[in-house]
Amino acid sequence: MDRTISEAIRSIGVQDEQIRLFENQYRVPRGISYNSYLILDEKTALLDMVDASCCGEWEENLKAALAGRRLDYLVISHLEPDHSGSIKRLLELCPEVKLVGNAKTFSMLPQFLDVETEGRSVVVKEGDSLSLGTHRLTFYLALMVHWPEVMVSYESSEKILFSADAFGRFGTPDADEPWEDEARRYYVNIVGKYGAPVQTLLKKAAGLDIQTICPLHGPVLRHNLGHYLGLYDTWSSYRPEERGVLIACASIHGNTWKAAQELAEMLRGRGEENVALYSLAGEEPSQAVAEAFRYDRMIVAASSYDGGVFPCMQEFLQHLQSKMYQNRRVGIVENGSWGPTAARAMRQLLEGMKDITILEPVVTIKSTLSPESRQSLERLAEAILQ
Ligand code: FEO
Repeated sequence: MDRTISEAIRSIGVQDEQIRLFENQYRVPRGISYNSYLILDEKTALLDMVDASCCGEWEENLKAALAGRRLDYLVISHLEPDHSGSIKRLLELCPEVKLVGNAKTFSMLPQFLDVETEGRSVVVKEGDSLSLGTHRLTFYLALMVHWPEVMVSYESSEKILFSADAFGRFGTPDADEPWEDEARRYYVNIVGKYGAPVQTLLKKAAGLDIQTICPLHGPVLRHNLGHYLGLYDTWSSYRPEERGVLIACASIHGNTWKAAQELAEMLRGRGEENVALYSLAGEEPSQAVAEAFRYDRMIVAASSYDGGVFPCMQEFLQHLQSKMYQNRRVGIVENGSWGPTAARAMRQLLEGMKDITILEPVVTIKSTLSPESRQSLERLAEAILQ
């Protein structure tokens, strides 16, 4: 990994390849990076650290980058343990370091760590600056992006925004890997609930001349920044990113899945270019949740179960609700061999979301597609294309 951000700034973070589930729920097949940045000027400042599980490798990187110099400041942008898990070790290594955070940082810090902050805290507020020599960090609160103590730092001599979790991505820090899919999955599932605070941060960022974005996960962004800022504006406004249909399916024995596949073909046959078909059973739902936010329409297809809906569909819809899914057109397909109940349960969850239009007809399949239910599916395909 290229660790040079500039002559004076090093990336000393770690790629976690061992982690199976980020936040104990989101699969990360290519791992996740915990980014940590070191500014070497007349004074030295470290911006954030890594998860405790990766502390050893990060410590080696820190020692090599400092090359015997003393560390003056640790800027704590975000206290979540994937970034603050190594504070205790840092204080053993650099007992003279000053901790830079806002009032909320220092009120929350003792909840996580038994460390002495008396005499080593530098409490900053919105717009305060810290001079390191040529480099100067100015702090902007980014409350609820994604915790209440989050702040970002703008370094004015090199025009760099250290953006905390914002603009982060699952996977590696390799800038050659496609950014959008894993950044969308990260944003929607981790930060998605907090669209309004992200909008506030974007307004602050619009007032800065930014040439580089250094997030706490994924690659450093150096080119075409308008593209990334634009996607963050779309996602945090809950606007669809593009026209398309997600079909999310929860099937027990495969018959609902066959109907969902047939529905996908009906849509493609009628000219719908973007049809994403996902099976929810046996999967954690973060990818399907991200695709739901990506497209302007969705069809949910599920088996009935215990007087309600197959639990993986219930979980999927609850995730959508908690991430503030809204302003979309949605079709419903249920399957029930006797007394179908899935449509009612799905409708109830969808009606708890803002500006959801449920399309007619709601399709009921009894075990397998019949000529009548296939016709009903055709009518739903027509309705969602309008
Ligand atoms: Fe990467 Fe909200 O922690």
